[in-house]
Order: sequence, then structure tokens, then C-alpha cells
Amino acid sequence: VATPRDAEIRKDVQTYYGQVLKKSADLQTNACVTAARPVPQHIREALQNVHEEVSLRYYGCGLVIPECLENCWILDLGSGSGRDCYALSQLVGEKGHVTGIDMTEGQVEVANKYIEYHMGKYGFQAPNVTFIRGYIEKLEEAGIKNESYDIVISNCVINLVPDKQQVLQEVYRVLKHGGELYFSDVYASLELPEEIRTHKVLWGECLGGALYWKDLSILAKKIGFCPPRLVTASFITVQNKELENVIGDCRFVSATFRLFKLPKTGPTQKCQVIYNGGITGHEKELIFDANFTFKKDEAVEVDEETVAILKNSRFAQGFLIGPDGEKLPTCGAYTALEVKVTAPRHVGSSWIRDQTHDPAVAGGCLSTREVPKQ
Ligand SMILES: C[S@@+](CC[C@H](N)C(=O)[O-])C[C@H]1O[C@@H](n2cnc3c(N)ncnc32)[C@H](O)[C@@H]1O
Repeated sequence: VATPRDAEIRKDVQTYYGQVLKKSADLQTNACVTAARPVPQHIREALQNVHEEVSLRYYGCGLVIPECLENCWILDLGSGSGRDCYALSQLVGEKGHVTGIDMTEGQVEVANKYIEYHMGKYGFQAPNVTFIRGYIEKLEEAGIKNESYDIVISNCVINLVPDKQQVLQEVYRVLKHGGELYFSDVYASLELPEEIRTHKVLWGECLGGALYWKDLSILAKKIGFCPPRLVTASFITVQNKELENVIGDCRFVSATFRLFKLPKTGPTQKCQVIYNGGITGHEKELIFDANFTFKKDEAVEVDEETVAILKNSRFAQGFLIGPDGEKLPTCGAYTALEVKVTAPRHVGSSWIRDQTHDPAVAGGCLSTREVPKQ
């Protein structure tokens, strides 16, 4: 049951995104601006095909377009004017489907206005995208069934919801086994004090409701997800004197995480895997997260948790997975195992990057490196 304070926050957020803001440039901080990072060509093209009015009202803080999307069913939490949904609808193809859910009427209206435009542009006979007005912490009320989606995405929205546990629980319910939540959001370096949490502009600008970064792992574990895998992170610079004074020493990052829901299977062991290069747009290498980059045909030893993810998710088709504890035959140009100790990319924050060095979070595969033998 939403408390009176939760209801007031929803009303304020709806006014902010439905009436106050008309375009990305109206934001008062740079929290909701996607950090610069190399975007694969096929994603760039998909984003360029999105209608200008939809793109102008984009308020996301990261790139929420994961890999291996053909025929997937995707749910976008807080889809706004629909920019990510329309890019994804092209990438999942006509046999896939994208559902966007948002509580703000004005946002859903803009999103709905351009369904025909995009389907015509992509040459699809029937629309593969639907927009619903509803609350992301009440997906059941919005008619979203158990285990019905392969991927749930969200771009700068969960921070705006007071009850984050309820949102993540609902995501867990609607994801298929092997599915993932791939989402960008804002995280705080401290547990936020009352004066930041109750500041209306800071809340609306996606800072006041930011989760203390350590709490994400705690929540994920409580609900049953695998430990979060960090993909990218970058600092948010507020660039607004008045707001900086309220924020004080607290620092914020925008970070993209993957959270997998795996079927309950027996324990796995670390083993070698080889990426086959078969994922569209990632033929040479697959940057899976800040720790793992899989190059085509290269054997990589991965920890138990990564084995479980690769075996039980849609990524299974892209990998040759060795028997538990054994080495795979030599492959491609490499004659021996190379365990990649990939430096986190595009990660601008040591306090959030450190999380990936926690064996409880990223697995224990970060300390070995064997040089390829000749
Ligand atoms: C920062 S905007 C991001 C919109 C979109 N993801 C994008 O990238 O442009 C936040 C969006 O979340 C929506 N929102 C916030 N709280 C919500 C809730 N509890 N349920 C559904 N939508 C919510 C707002 O209406 C707004 O459209």
C-alpha cells in the first residue's frame, strides 16, 4: 500500500515529467543525460530511426540496449516518450515484442502517437510495441503476467520510486528464468540524508531518490537475483550551485547493471568458455560487463556464477561451454588459456568500480592471468 508520502512523490514526478519538462534540455542537472561511450553501429542506426519528437523527450541516464535481442520480449519500466522502446522494437524484429509502461499520461501520449510511424519505417506488418499507462511497482495491476519477458530494461526511473524493493520483486516475477534486468540508474555514495531525499527538484532530477550503491546487492540477493554485474558507470556533475549546496559531500554516478534471474540448478564450477561471434553487432567481441570481454574464438576461464549465467540465459547459443573444471580444446589464433583481467571500461568512479572486485559480487576470477603459450 502506497503511503501518503509515496502518493505525493508520484504526483510531483508526474507533474515534472508531464508538464514542467518539455525536452531533455529543460533538465536542471546533467543526471539524466547519457554518458558518452562508444555505441555500436547497429544501435546508433536504430536510435537515429526514432522520431525527433520522441528523442527530444528522452530523459535517460544510460544505454539500455543489451546484446542478443532477436525475437525477445522486452518490458521497459518508465518508458517515457518511448525512445528506447522504439530502438528496441527494431532490434527485436517483427517476431519480438516491446512493452513500455509509464505512469505519466503526457509521456504515454507522445509514445503512442508514433507507433504507426515507426512500424512503417521498419516495414513491419503488425506493431510489435505497446505502451501502457501504469505503475512499475504494480505490474500485476497493469496486466503483466508471471514469467512473460526475456528482458526488462529501465532507464533512469527506479530512483524515482520510493519502494525500490517492490519494483525489483515485480521484475523478478515477470522475468522468465534465464531472463535479465538490464538497467541504468543513479546511485549515491552515501545513504542520503533527509534534506536531500525530501528536496522536490533533486527527487525530480533523479538524485533525491538515488539508491545507496551498496544497497543494490543487498536487495538483489534478498529477492533471488544473481549478484549485480556492473556494465558501465560515470560520474554525474550537477553544475547547479544552489543544488550543489544541498548535496554537500554526496557524490552520484549513473551506472548500468545486469541482474539475472536464473533457474534453481545445482552448483556449477568455474570452467572455460569460447564465444562464437554469433551475436549481431558483436561479431568480434562481446563486452559482457566491466570485467568480462569475450573475444571470438578465445578460450576464457570464468567463475561459477558467470558459467551459470551463460549456460542458462539467452547467451547460451553464443558460447561453447567446457565441461566443469576442464579445459576446452585450443581454438582460433590462441594456443592456450588467457584469463582476461579486463580493466573496467568507462567507469569513472572507484567507489562503484570496487564493487566488481568484491568476490561476492563478481566471482573470484580477477586475480589470475596466464599468458598465451606459443
Ligand atoms: C527520467 S524519466 C525517464 C524516461 C525514459 N526512460 C527515458 O529514458 O526517456 C522517468 C520516467 O519514469 C516515469 N515514472 C516515475 N515513477 C514511475 C512509476 N512509479 N511508475 C511508472 N512510471 C514512473 C515518469 O513518468 C517518467 O516518464
